[in-house]
Amino acid sequence: FRAAFKRPPRLKPDSVSQDSDGSTVNHYTVAMRQASAQILPTKKTSILGYDGTFPGPTIELDQGTKAVVHMRNRLPKNHPQWNKHLLATSTHLHGSATLPQYDGYANDVTLPGFYKDYHYPNFQPARTIWYHDHGVHFTAQNVYSGLAGMYIIHDPVEKELLPQGEFDVPLVVSDAMFAADGSLAYDDREHSGLWGDVILVNGVPWPVMKVQPRVYRFRILNASISRSYRFSLSSGQPLHVVGTDGGLMPATQPVPNYRHGMAERYEVLIDFSKYKPGTRVELRNLSNGNNRDYDFTGKVMAFDVVAAPAGMKDDPKWNHIPTTLVDSEVMHLTRDDREDKRYFRVEKDGLVEPWTINGVIWEDVIASNFKLAHADPKKDAVEVWEFENKSGGWFHPIHIHLVDFRVLSRNGKAPYAWERGPKDVVYVGENEKVELVMRFGPHEGRYMVHCHNLPHEDHSMMFQFRVGLGEN
Ligand code: C2O
Ligand code: CU
Repeated sequence: FRAAFKRPPRLKPDSVSQDSDGSTVNHYTVAMRQASAQILPTKKTSILGYDGTFPGPTIELDQGTKAVVHMRNRLPKNHPQWNKHLLATSTHLHGSATLPQYDGYANDVTLPGFYKDYHYPNFQPARTIWYHDHGVHFTAQNVYSGLAGMYIIHDPVEKELLPQGEFDVPLVVSDAMFAADGSLAYDDREHSGLWGDVILVNGVPWPVMKVQPRVYRFRILNASISRSYRFSLSSGQPLHVVGTDGGLMPATQPVPNYRHGMAERYEVLIDFSKYKPGTRVELRNLSNGNNRDYDFTGKVMAFDVVAAPAGMKDDPKWNHIPTTLVDSEVMHLTRDDREDKRYFRVEKDGLVEPWTINGVIWEDVIASNFKLAHADPKKDAVEVWEFENKSGGWFHPIHIHLVDFRVLSRNGKAPYAWERGPKDVVYVGENEKVELVMRFGPHEGRYMVHCHNLPHEDHSMMFQFRVGLGEN
């Protein structure tokens, strides 16, 4: 723990306009670029980044403010390393109920030299979401190269309940492996996954953050390609989980540690008020198994408690752990609300495109001229989906675009304490079986479902569903 903690830069809108419905629209411009980043102390690393940074700049706005992001592809024509594939990108805002044409559909790519304007509605309640590349077959390599950034929606309830500003801290956690010359190394054996030996938080290896003796809120995004974490504190104190992928939970869940899969977001409160200045608390990673661990992947970052600056005025409303948070419609959905129930078997099969869902791979979707769908829910229909991991030796964080869901059961029992909030990624561990309930809307159109171990997604654990477009 040597490097100083830093926050990702924040993106300012270029302009603000008024929509025909009276809402405010923020206009942003982002350029994807190749850049040289100082990640390691002595060597530079070539990355691909939104505005040339890793993580990309954070977009932060209020619920109800729409956004148009003018996304330019200024990348070189071909990836400078590894496969030298064409850098055809598609940007997905993960966790947003975006219209299908702006959702980052994998085959809807933008070539180097071109741009696309992405429209985001931001009508959903406060949540921590993120944008990343979704270019077909090369998502893993593009995201690993740096194409990921955070996106935060605030609302009045959340602003009242939870720490803001300086005490509201994004943590983009990822892992990487570096060659001797400082360049990123990519070692994906048999398309099974990519594990690095260096843990980065906001693009800094094992950073140290100075904290005051008070309550802090951390928005933790696991932006790793294939690594899951089990976070805990060296002090033995609980992590107070207050938010999941889709925003605040109904009630705070104090846990001694929790399992955090790729692409999931958890918001946690940590209370440093018990510590004297000079105390160090470490954020650690107890392993989950089914990962490749190295000597120092059990450590994530450190917090050094320092005295609060004299005369600082503090708002006591944020300096405690609330117990009741926010109820959302999805958390009231039950098995009895369902119109349909579907079952998905997630397995390992074959060698070229080894990862399948119900025996189907993304190539089949492409070959069908994008007609093949695993599900055609009616608009606004409630459905129960069950995922069963039969792949042996692997875990799969399954992400469903468009919707927030509730985890109904895990292996026939209640879901874990930390996943009792609105979600869009579910961890399906080795031999696990989960049941989810969700409402399909508010948009019609086709959307993707895939494993967020990105080499699995690229080879080819991904399918699509169509809302309101099917015959059934
Ligand atoms: Cu975060 Cu379809 O992905
Ligand atoms: Cu997977």
